[in-house]
Amino acid sequence: MCGIYGIIGKCKNIDKVAINALYELEYRGYDSSGIAFLNTNKEIKVIKSTGKIENLEKNINNHEVSTECLIAHTRWATHGKISTSNAHPHTSENVAIVHNGIITNYEELKNKLNSYKFYGECDSEVIAKLMDYNLQRSKTALEAFCKTIKELKGSYAIECIVKGEYNTIFIARKESPIYVCKYKDTVIASSDLITFPKQTSTYFEVSENQICELKKSKIKFFDLELNEIKGTSKKYDINENKVSLNNYSHFMLKEIFDIPKALNDTMKKLESSDKLNIDLSRFEKVHFIACGTAYHSACVGAFMVQSLCGIDAQSHIASEWIDSPTLCNKNHLFVMISQSGETFDTILALKKAKQNGCICLSITNTSYSTLANLSDYVLPIVAGKEVAVASTKVYNACNLACLYLANKIKAERQNLELNLNDIKIDYNEITKLLNAEFEKEFANTLINYKTIFFLGKCEDYITAMEASLKLKEITYINSSAYPSGELKHGTLALVDNETLIIAYLTNANYTDKMISALSEVKARGGKVLLLSNQTLPKALVDYSIKLSSGNSSINMLLYSIIPMQKLAYYTAIKLNKNPDKPRNLAKSVTVA
Ligand code: AGP
Repeated sequence: MCGIYGIIGKCKNIDKVAINALYELEYRGYDSSGIAFLNTNKEIKVIKSTGKIENLEKNINNHEVSTECLIAHTRWATHGKISTSNAHPHTSENVAIVHNGIITNYEELKNKLNSYKFYGECDSEVIAKLMDYNLQRSKTALEAFCKTIKELKGSYAIECIVKGEYNTIFIARKESPIYVCKYKDTVIASSDLITFPKQTSTYFEVSENQICELKKSKIKFFDLELNEIKGTSKKYDINENKVSLNNYSHFMLKEIFDIPKALNDTMKKLESSDKLNIDLSRFEKVHFIACGTAYHSACVGAFMVQSLCGIDAQSHIASEWIDSPTLCNKNHLFVMISQSGETFDTILALKKAKQNGCICLSITNTSYSTLANLSDYVLPIVAGKEVAVASTKVYNACNLACLYLANKIKAERQNLELNLNDIKIDYNEITKLLNAEFEKEFANTLINYKTIFFLGKCEDYITAMEASLKLKEITYINSSAYPSGELKHGTLALVDNETLIIAYLTNANYTDKMISALSEVKARGGKVLLLSNQTLPKALVDYSIKLSSGNSSINMLLYSIIPMQKLAYYTAIKLNKNPDKPRNLAKSVTVA
């Protein structure tokens, strides 16, 4: 995904305001960035840089930016390598645009625009050329922009400035959200509310099939027949977006230590949120659908519903489920899980479930997101803004929401009131795990191993999958997670004395089988780090992290991941990787 921003109005250091906004949008992509603005001669000026936003900031400092109309962009590459020519804004002779999304018919449009010279490989460039083409064939820039939008296929949030159209930004969106607000003498557009001035209290979301025209201190909306229509203003909750590093060195470490607060605030919200006015007892099956770390929460949800409610529940990877045979009916409940609420595949899965007449409930950390708006019901997560690309506190909070939902389904099926005492959050254990020093030290040991496997059975296998993803995505060390009983069916061939096995055991019922699995590993020279509330023979364990034996393995799904979240973080630091902004990734993937 990418981050786009636009501002019109009398604003001191408007370029600094835009750069600060790009820093707040950096979580959406950080391959390259740029600005375009109409200068006082109504010429379009463009400044772009590859790499970190600091590079653009330095570049801008070498230019005179005097304008009252500016658009800005930070990129996560989908089409075309990371380069200045592929960086946004994209231009044609009279136009500059920034875009978040994918234009799926850009080849076809490029053929139509064969009289134009394309300078890059990015699909978004075709928007600028098409707008220029339509400008030559329209009475007004608004009419040209409307024609351009109608010819685009795919997903987009677009901001467009036109030479001569002083202090005007044209905006449209399809699937990729964009919001606008008025603040003092300025009007602002952005991919995320987080960039709006903290005093902002209301905003508009640009809807599908409409055009928004920002002019100096004026916001207008039009339908695609260019009839002026009314925008719908919404309330803006600053607390949902407030972020600060405080005295932590990275957001990821801060967000790991925010886990107790995230769980506590989410529990309070779940208890107080208006009753889910839905009869949960009638569903024969529950499907949990998500991507990445959220998919691991989906696995947690399915496991909890099966274990606690005795009904069928299944987790699906969204990008797989949308193209798989659809075996569902209106007696099935769908639960989509998404931190951002903007993940393209998860939104597509929701649309497919609704096309099949199914009720969709979302668990999301972003109440104003597309997913929340499209859902029949929302179970809110109140973890606070999660900035680090690697999700931590929201994973824990989503697992809590799943536990709450499973207990609610169970209570309704038994015609009982929900007993919140069944949802035990062991804050003492969480504090102990957070304050342990082991992981910081063990990072020095871990980096010496050539092969790393995470093992677990049933609920522990889910934690093992999440632990493996955390390690991969911020340290770039390859690892895999396996069900402990599966290793011997092939992958054991890879185990030797340069292999580290990180094994989870939180359910006493699996002890004997874990002993067998670890014996097979030890017999081949592998080393073992065990995270468990059980005691295993010393000969099988080289390193261990003691987990408390006072909680059920289901409740431990809320926090047994913490040591591996910390280990991934400290290993990344050891390897001089940026844990907040890992290479190639973005915080939310709003494209297919
Ligand atoms: C998590 O550490 C990753 N950054 C990634 O897998 C993420 O969980 C996934 O892209 C889903 O994002 P969402 O929760 O915003 O839908």
